[in-house]
Amino acid sequence: MGLIPDNVIDEVLTRADIESVVSRYVLLKRQGSNLWGLCPFHSEKTPSFSVNPAKGIFKCFGCGKGGNAINFIMEIEHLNYPEAIRHLAGIYGVEVPETGYSGDSVQKEEKNRVKDILKEAAKFYYKSFNDPVIGKPARDYAARRGLSKQTLDNFGIGYSPINWTALYDLLNSKGYKDDELLKSGIFAVSSKTNKPYDLFRGRLMFPIFDSFGTIIAFGGRALGDEKPKYINSPDSIVYNKQNHLYAMNFARKEQSKQLIVVEGYMDAIAMHAAGFKNTVAALGTSFTDSQLKLCARYAEEVVFFFDADNAGQKAALRAVKMMMEYLNKLTGINIRIKIAKVPDGKDPDEFIRVNGADKFSEVVRNALYVEDYLLERAKNDNTDPVTGELDRGRYQQDICVYGSWMNDEIKMSRMAGASAPFLGATQQAVMSQMIRFRQIEDKKQSQVNSRTLDRERRENLDHRNVSEEFATAKDDSMPEEVVSEKPVFRKVIDTATKEEIDLFAYALSLGSALADKKHFDTKNVIRPDDFSGDTLRELVRIFLNIFDGRDETLYARMSDYFSRLTINGQPAEDIMFRAVEAADKSPDVRVKRDMYLALLFKVRESRIRLEEEMLMNKLVNAGPDEKEKINGRLRSLSDYKMSLRNKIGDL
Ligand code: CTP
Ligand code: MN
Repeated sequence: MGLIPDNVIDEVLTRADIESVVSRYVLLKRQGSNLWGLCPFHSEKTPSFSVNPAKGIFKCFGCGKGGNAINFIMEIEHLNYPEAIRHLAGIYGVEVPETGYSGDSVQKEEKNRVKDILKEAAKFYYKSFNDPVIGKPARDYAARRGLSKQTLDNFGIGYSPINWTALYDLLNSKGYKDDELLKSGIFAVSSKTNKPYDLFRGRLMFPIFDSFGTIIAFGGRALGDEKPKYINSPDSIVYNKQNHLYAMNFARKEQSKQLIVVEGYMDAIAMHAAGFKNTVAALGTSFTDSQLKLCARYAEEVVFFFDADNAGQKAALRAVKMMMEYLNKLTGINIRIKIAKVPDGKDPDEFIRVNGADKFSEVVRNALYVEDYLLERAKNDNTDPVTGELDRGRYQQDICVYGSWMNDEIKMSRMAGASAPFLGATQQAVMSQMIRFRQIEDKKQSQVNSRTLDRERRENLDHRNVSEEFATAKDDSMPEEVVSEKPVFRKVIDTATKEEIDLFAYALSLGSALADKKHFDTKNVIRPDDFSGDTLRELVRIFLNIFDGRDETLYARMSDYFSRLTINGQPAEDIMFRAVEAADKSPDVRVKRDMYLALLFKVRESRIRLEEEMLMNKLVNAGPDEKEKINGRLRSLSDYKMSLRNKIGDL
């Protein structure tokens, strides 16, 4: 539980207003305070799907589905709960920390230790680089590659001295244990001595930062032609290379609508130095969907540079295909993709050194939209370089495959139109072949998807069944109550009376008015122990915690919890949605307030009656001292009950 911190979820629900989220999928028309459209979850001809922007929720009166923006995305994109939050966070620019595993504080502690180790290591490399003697070869190399002092410092570039244990000895002396050091990924174990030794020796060191600027890994380049050219620290508890982009910590600060993605560390560094500070580098792997998501979080357009060599061009096609598939799946992500090519087979670093930043600007401007790039690829790949003749069979095959990757028909049709003349065919014929290819591909995909979907459904079910967990989780938050009982695993009681449900609904409907001391004595604000069942107690506790006067999102934020719990065996969201609807109908705040107070007093009265009954039963077997205490309690309860009666009478 609690993989994503609550404040991040709140932020997502605040920014991802339900109207704009749903509008991406459903055509909505305003009618009264609600918006209506055709339900995307079942087929219908007249709209029974409603969106309530004020509450931040949707509800279909046809199929019964309902919830907040997160629940909507879970349904429509077939995502599980954390995935849906991340999806919305991506679109609405909310940062979800990678290490949000707040539930697991031991692991967090471990990760922090590893991060400390990496930071110490970076300092050590940096010092070695600047050491007059030790660092000389590295500084000479950096100078040959045109790296200025400022650039070196900015990227924290260092040098790992040619020594097997210099770093190990240092960190060891600082109290880091072998097992911690090994987790950091920058040491290896000698098979002879069984002791850790430094993984990087005699290399130019690039610290790899996460998007927030914390060092999570290293890349090390050989100073000469020795192999391998680069050594990277492996994935670890703080580093998964698929989820990061080198230099993103700097690039994201540019707040540019465009991100440039290059292949190498040195390319990224050279581009930053030349003023293209919106550049990031993939980390020695092929570009992944989670890296694309990371880009989409910060930019609207991504320009890719792939190396001009064979491997680079193969990688380009793979990446394009992956990105198109990904964009097809997640309709919510709106990101333009362009492919750029450095002329003369150079990489960006070399090109800038030879031709300068202005010329490079031109190269960026000349980047092609994906569909144009693919058209050109199909042409170039299948044209004989000597005779200039086009191999029509192969060209047709490539075009139809590339066309089938497109995520909209307009792009597909443009590709068909542009290639048709070379195929001696009509645009329509090419287009229908592309669609056929697409269908075959979709079929293959859907077989894979139905398997994952099944799994996700099961996971979602698990998600709803958190009730047993919070029965135990409650122990620390409300010790005074639970300690007297046996503090163990017990079934959650999700029962609630109609009055309790209505009371909570009126509280939700009143929202920030409840906090207004002019109208409400703090004594008259609902408390968890006003309620008899665990679910409502928990919900009220959450309500009081997140209650901060922001009415626009209050209900949506609560709704997120509703979707995970049940009341009287039914989904809490259904029960509460109906009750709040009714409460909202009150003609004015005063009436609503009086209804609320009347319910509150009634609910408190019946709680007292229950306690009285319980005390009476105890009285039978109580000793004299205890009898005295119980009678005292009964008297004060009786007084309190009278005062409540009077208050009800006053209303
Ligand atoms: N790479 C790697 N391991 C290798 C070779 C390359 O991890 N053995 C990764 C590095 O991130 C490198 C990128 O792939 O930056 C691109 O590799 P390449 O084009 O070979 O190197 P350049 O970036 O051009 O490096 P340099 O300019 O220093 O030669
Ligand atoms: Mn290079």
